Amino acid sequence: MHKFFAKTHFIGKNIRFLPECHSTNDILMHQVKLGDAKDGDVLITDFQTKGRGQRGNTWESKPGENLMFSITLRPDFIKAQDQFLLTVVASLALCDTLEFYNIRPAIKWPNDIYVGSKKIAGILIECLLRGTSIENSVVGIGLNVNQDIFSEAYATSMKMEISRMMGREETLSRILISLEKFYKQLRTEPSTRLMELYYSRLLGLSQERKFLVKEEHISGVIKGVDSVGRLEVLIDGKVQKFGLKEIKFLGL
Ligand code: BTN
Repeated sequence: MHKFFAKTHFIGKNIRFLPECHSTNDILMHQVKLGDAKDGDVLITDFQTKGRGQRGNTWESKPGENLMFSITLRPDFIKAQDQFLLTVVASLALCDTLEFYNIRPAIKWPNDIYVGSKKIAGILIECLLRGTSIENSVVGIGLNVNQDIFSEAYATSMKMEISRMMGREETLSRILISLEKFYKQLRTEPSTRLMELYYSRLLGLSQERKFLVKEEHISGVIKGVDSVGRLEVLIDGKVQKFGLKEIKFLGL
């Protein structure tokens, strides 16, 4: 992995490989705070001892079989309240990459990547804010590439989907190229087009789903995602908005 060069303009021009670490997000965020990380720096590892996921979950991955990496970005052109757009960019980059390999992905709000009913990738974005701006972001990505045995029944990998081993370097390269493309688009265009792409891949859009809200089982129709990334659900004729910690899917 360490002999890898990305064909990009800035994301992945500086790639550091650690055979093992606690969490690539934590290490890059530490460097960011020390002023020691540049825009587009990538840290990749073969194994994390304390890989972190959303909602305080852990991220488990067999050593050397998958992709686990983090990227430093300085999205000073977006406001803190719009940081969800980084999630959009990372989700679209992963979806485009998977599609290139004939895998049909979908985004489970906010940023889990699914194939059918199984999760193939997760994204953890952490931002350092200064006033109303984002000073720095660390975009962490875990993508199941060649692992074919999981303890969770709901996990899948690229290999399981297309029945062949995948090159991790090549896959990483495609993700970084795609990420840079969508990130540049975010910088130069209104976010409407990116949101349209996100919606076109959003699992359950305009469909009825079951959720857990404040320990209560509810069902509602997914209407969309608002500008701060809250899920909009039509419940009993009224659209309600939920943050990540306020709602949980029951099934898909
Ligand atoms: C999730 O699905 O809950 C998000 C998972 C994110 C995992 C990646 S692996 C690389 C980076 N470092 C971490 O500790 N987490 C992210």
